[in-house]
Amino acid sequence: MRSLELAGVNVSVIGQGTWQMGEDRSRHNEEVAALRLGIELGMTLIDTAEMYAEGGAEEVVGEAIAGRRDEVFLVSKVYPHNASRKGIPQACERSLRRLDTDHIDLYLLHWRGQYPLEETVEAFEQLRAAGKIGRWGVSNFDVDDLQELAAPACATNQVLYNLEERGIEFDLLPWCQQRRMPVMAYCPIGQGGKMLANATLRQVAARHRVTPAQVSLAWLLRQDGVIAIPKAVRPEHVRLNAQAAQLVLEPGDLEALDQAFHAPQRKQRLAMV
Ligand SMILES: NC(=O)c1ccc[n+]([C@@H]2O[C@H](COP(=O)([O-])OP(=O)(O)OC[C@H]3O[C@@H](n4cnc5c(N)ncnc54)[C@H](OP(=O)(O)O)[C@@H]3O)[C@@H](O)[C@H]2O)c1
Repeated sequence: MRSLELAGVNVSVIGQGTWQMGEDRSRHNEEVAALRLGIELGMTLIDTAEMYAEGGAEEVVGEAIAGRRDEVFLVSKVYPHNASRKGIPQACERSLRRLDTDHIDLYLLHWRGQYPLEETVEAFEQLRAAGKIGRWGVSNFDVDDLQELAAPACATNQVLYNLEERGIEFDLLPWCQQRRMPVMAYCPIGQGGKMLANATLRQVAARHRVTPAQVSLAWLLRQDGVIAIPKAVRPEHVRLNAQAAQLVLEPGDLEALDQAFHAPQRKQRLAMV
């Protein structure tokens, strides 16, 4: 697995998402097993949030990392309505309990809410000083939000980014790259939806004898400072995603993909799901 540097630590360029895990008790063992397999295959960055299944996803992660905490780079997110001076430490304690660990490696503000950014940052910094989190960052922030935040300590911005949603290439991605702040691409394979049926994407995949999802991951990861966090429960999906780190696309592939999925020509509002 390839890695890149994020706020002083090397992390895997392909991580594992967990949205929609922890919702159905009958799938619990399958979800734990998928995350464990992913860790074995080098996808040691795991992304979760207090929001996912209202803590249920964090419990799945907690079980998956039991006995192998040191191998994993754990990312979780706080709800905006908890992102206050008092709310953040309490939310963090609840997450730590569910994750069954004493620290979160990277703690993110899930999206901007009603509390002033300075208050949220102050609370993050206190958690960092107390050793409860290793570093902090944000999610769903556009350039103007990051400018207002004006915090070099912000370790990442997690945003929607895939072949169909390329808006960040116009301004946000270069802004982050110039500051060596890695961008974490969520929904990197378009939630497994219609994007994967695109004829050009399928042709490129066939040329390399891989799958469209693998091409969509390799397409993201050819760029500096981009991490992708696909979510997969099916073991074959987990394996395919890990293998995508080795796939190198050629200039002709990139041109064909540019024809099928256009790069932004002007500023676009930051897309979110
Ligand atoms: N910060 C935010 O606001 C935000 C928002 C959305 C998501 N996220 C994070 O980003 C992660 C990824 O986004 P996402 O889960 O929405 O979408 P995604 O990773 O783009 O897609 C997940 C879907 O694709 C399927 N899949 C996985 N690997 C595949 C493969 N190799 N081939 C074909 N299908 C495959 C999965 O199926 P199976 O599960 O059945 O294998 C699942 O249905 C989330 O889980 C979450 O951690 C963050």
